[in-house]
Amino acid sequence: MRKLTVHTKNRDYDVLQEKGILKRAKELIRPEGSVYLVSDDGVPAKWQQCLQEQFPDAPMYVFPHGEQAKNLSTWQKILEDMLAHNLSRKDMVIALGGGVAGDMAGFAAASYMRGIAYVNIPTTSLSQIDSSIGGKTAVDLAGAKNCVGAFWQPSMVLVDPDVLKTLSSRQFHNGLVEAVKEGLTFDPELFAMFEKDDYMEHVDDIIWKCLNIKKNVVEHDERESGERKLLNFGHTYGHAYETYYGLNTYLHGECVGMGMMTIMNNPQIKERLQKVLERMGCPVHCDADYDQIAHLITHDKKADHDHVTIVQVDEIGKGHLEEWTMEQIRKKMDV
Ligand code: GLY
Repeated sequence: MRKLTVHTKNRDYDVLQEKGILKRAKELIRPEGSVYLVSDDGVPAKWQQCLQEQFPDAPMYVFPHGEQAKNLSTWQKILEDMLAHNLSRKDMVIALGGGVAGDMAGFAAASYMRGIAYVNIPTTSLSQIDSSIGGKTAVDLAGAKNCVGAFWQPSMVLVDPDVLKTLSSRQFHNGLVEAVKEGLTFDPELFAMFEKDDYMEHVDDIIWKCLNIKKNVVEHDERESGERKLLNFGHTYGHAYETYYGLNTYLHGECVGMGMMTIMNNPQIKERLQKVLERMGCPVHCDADYDQIAHLITHDKKADHDHVTIVQVDEIGKGHLEEWTMEQIRKKMDV
């Protein structure tokens, strides 16, 4: 079993990676009080049953999968159900699912009785690589992604490579794009793994490398005042592409891939990135309207009014931050 410990201001917690670790969840978590399970209906029933068999007395709240459900209404229903089951401060929430399930369960745990423990069991490559550690929990509000939430670190994260076997190739690569991003911004060796045809044989190592990168970033900058922003490489345009195309055209990682292609200045690195994305079957360019994308970025409810902090990569493994004017944001799409 691989193990790392994330040290944060309020909590230190272990991240464990092992094939089949889902079957050992109870033995590893060893909860002292009651357990409340949160999942979504996109998670294969066999993973949910595996967890329920270990916690037969625990209720499981299953909400509809997808970003549409990541809202205050679902959050309220979960909290009401937790209350109806008499969950107390010493009890625990366990999230089983992708990024949305982790966000929902994490934010419910963060807010219920001013905060109770939660354990994250990510079931997608995207959540295993990125969102399951670091303590960002949130729901969307009036079209603003992750507008209401909290930094609330999990008590443990269990990463089971076996649960990824039920993902389609497209979903799998959706998450791997975030690993490509971490290679470009932090680790040339990680990026180089994607430049070889056999990268799928090394997925467990790729995920473990990403978890270690994320641990270091979160330990230095839990609240995203500096270094953690580097994890947003490709997301400035990527989020705008997601909004522009809606929920049914491109996946998050695909938009991030196109977002990295849009923002990349260095032509040599851009060419290498294009080859990597094409090898993964991901889109590299889109036909979005420049003005509308620029408008979405500059009118993002969370953006400052006259500039945007972007991430740039001029040398692989060394991402850095730049302040761009709105004009720079618009012009970059013309090249
Ligand atoms: N997903 C980026 C972060 O956790 O900061």
